[in-house]
Amino acid sequence: MASHLPLFLEGEVIKGFGRGSKDLGCPTANYSLEVVKSLPKETVPGVYYGWAQVDAGPVHKMVANIGWCPFYQNKEMSVETHVMHKFDNDFYGSNLKICLIGYLRGEMNFNSLDDLIKQIERDINSAEQKLEETDAQLLKSANIFVGKAS
Ligand SMILES: Cc1cc2nc3c(=O)[nH]c(=O)nc-3n(C[C@H](O)[C@H](O)[C@H](O)COP(=O)(O)O)c2cc1C
Repeated sequence: MASHLPLFLEGEVIKGFGRGSKDLGCPTANYSLEVVKSLPKETVPGVYYGWAQVDAGPVHKMVANIGWCPFYQNKEMSVETHVMHKFDNDFYGSNLKICLIGYLRGEMNFNSLDDLIKQIERDINSAEQKLEETDAQLLKSANIFVGKAS
């Protein structure tokens, strides 16, 4: 399951459908299809936790969903990252580096938007805790994140 982890991805942040902020109260940064297509073949769709860096800024905790979002039935696979930090502005066009460290669960469908929101809150809480573990902390200073501000 975790043989392809840690997995490092980098690319420009593009506009998604905008539902993350509007419907879910959980903004997500989308990668282009080019980055999605660069995923290793063995990548398992689902929810991951790890580290994220926007441009040369600080490294923050993140959760990311990889897949087709069964609740919204997307036609294309996507990689959507929720950076666990309150930003003043959106960062479309910025460079986003992520390091996927661990797998939380598979993508699921939900009976209501509220159920999806509650599950994402649980994912964020799990990620928050798992990223405090020593192995995860070591990856925060991985080479990919050089040039960071702090
Ligand atoms: C941590 C996390 C977990 C998610 N889990 C699911 C899921 O299990 N099923 C699903 O359909 N979508 C899931 N999503 C994806 C949301 O549906 C998606 O972020 C939302 O549609 C916003 O997309 P947009 O920014 O392209 O509009 C998850 C997103 C995040 C950040």
